[in-house]
Amino acid sequence: MRVVRSIDALRAARAAFRELAFVPTMGNLHAGHLALVRIARQRAAHVAASVFVNRLQFAPHEDFEHYPRTFAADCALLEAEGVALLFAPDESVLYPEPQTFLVEPPPIANQLEGQFRPHFFEGVATVVLKLLNCVQPGIAVFGKKDYQQLHIVRGMVRQFDLPVEIVAAETVREPDGLALSSRNGYLSTAERAEAPRLHRLLCAVRDGLETAAGALVALGAAGWKADYLELRRQSDLAPPQAGDRDLVVLAAARLGATRLIDNVELQLG
Ligand code: PAF
Repeated sequence: MRVVRSIDALRAARAAFRELAFVPTMGNLHAGHLALVRIARQRAAHVAASVFVNRLQFAPHEDFEHYPRTFAADCALLEAEGVALLFAPDESVLYPEPQTFLVEPPPIANQLEGQFRPHFFEGVATVVLKLLNCVQPGIAVFGKKDYQQLHIVRGMVRQFDLPVEIVAAETVREPDGLALSSRNGYLSTAERAEAPRLHRLLCAVRDGLETAAGALVALGAAGWKADYLELRRQSDLAPPQAGDRDLVVLAAARLGATRLIDNVELQLG
């Protein structure tokens, strides 16, 4: 695996690969990321990944400084998965000057996650656009765990006519249902035991055993501080209208100091 730190080195190395699928990450890789890499490998002859903790998508009070950075372990995992090229720029490479040109996502970015993380999707869209421009992959793989992120990235690629196919990967879960996330490492033993409740409640809403409002109350009763738990339309994440069949239940909630997000899709009828 070739590790490149600069955009010039990336462009020179990238020229050796005709077909390239790309997996952008913020590092601290787990089995969920490796599943994205495997999907990328099935879709193209070569795989590139990036490791970059993007300050632009963190609010000042969030965990940018403490976000787990495990670069040596990440390299070993990516190499073992057959990744050919790893782009791991410093901030000074990707943001050599203040990034004053920003991608302004559509109003849906101000709902759900965006209501609680106001500039999050602006930061995500901006860095994803930059990474796609740098790596120039034919395919890029994003996980459905970050469902709204996937929706916004797809919209950006479509509306800016970016020459890349966005491929969605299913969420990878622990045996008890907890969605894999780098932030799971912040959970105490007791919180880790409690954490699967979020997925259980989403499944109960999916299966019609619980309403979204009831699931919110159940989270509160179990000591969580929920930001939202809502049923939305898969296609545009708008609130569902009569006759809509392809829906998704999305939630974000804090367990102690750790904020977890998850979602499950459902088809009515
Ligand atoms: O999903 C993530 O890990 C990040 O939001 C991404 C897409 C790598 C952009 O920083």
